[in-house]
Amino acid sequence: MSNKPKDNNFIDITPNDVKGLMVIESACHSHPWSEKTFTSCIGGRYFGEMLGTNQQQLVQADTAVGFYIGEYVAGEATLMDICVLPNEQGKGFGKVLFNQFLAQAKKLGATKVFLEVRAKNIAAQMLYMNAGFIEIDRRTGYYPSSSGFGYEDAIVMSLTC
Ligand SMILES: CC(C)(COP(=O)(O)OP(=O)(O)OC[C@H]1O[C@@H](n2cnc3c(N)ncnc32)[C@H](O)[C@@H]1OP(=O)(O)O)[C@@H](O)C(=O)NCCC(=O)NCCS
Repeated sequence: MSNKPKDNNFIDITPNDVKGLMVIESACHSHPWSEKTFTSCIGGRYFGEMLGTNQQQLVQADTAVGFYIGEYVAGEATLMDICVLPNEQGKGFGKVLFNQFLAQAKKLGATKVFLEVRAKNIAAQMLYMNAGFIEIDRRTGYYPSSSGFGYEDAIVMSLTC
């Protein structure tokens, strides 16, 4: 069976999924969210889904390959986080997750979508640019550097839907 991701193996994220998804979060970021921060980004103005492969229907977080978390307020959506397990990256899952985030944001009524990305994170920037996002601002020294020394700029990008 092909490993090519399908578009429909998504499940809404609930607080019960946080422990399982922390494995992906911690593997993907030099400065990952804490469990508490992750949990605070579920429900209310936040929306998020996790994705499974097409090998098996996704039923719980510990078999997810990735997830996204978005925020929607008054016609504007923001991508809070998007992650794919490192050994599953480069297989198309990120694009499927990002397109799902955009589709959900539009469904909620977003006409503007924003995100922030590390200046050195070229893979993520390519994903966003290919979806039509443009750089609108740069926050100097916004992130602690992923190498552990100094700081790194944040690039702010947006898309008008
Ligand atoms: C960003 C991320 C979600 C992309 O997921 P992915 O599954 O590897 O992405 P895909 O395989 O779907 O590739 C989607 C697009 O991303 C870009 N991309 C992915 N890997 C890339 C790389 N190594 N170099 C350049 N561009 C890359 C390409 O534009 C690609 O589209 P294409 O294949 O049509 O050229 C993943 O790298 C990740 O989880 N990174 C760690 C967490 C992170 O940085 N999140 C973003 C926070 S802003």
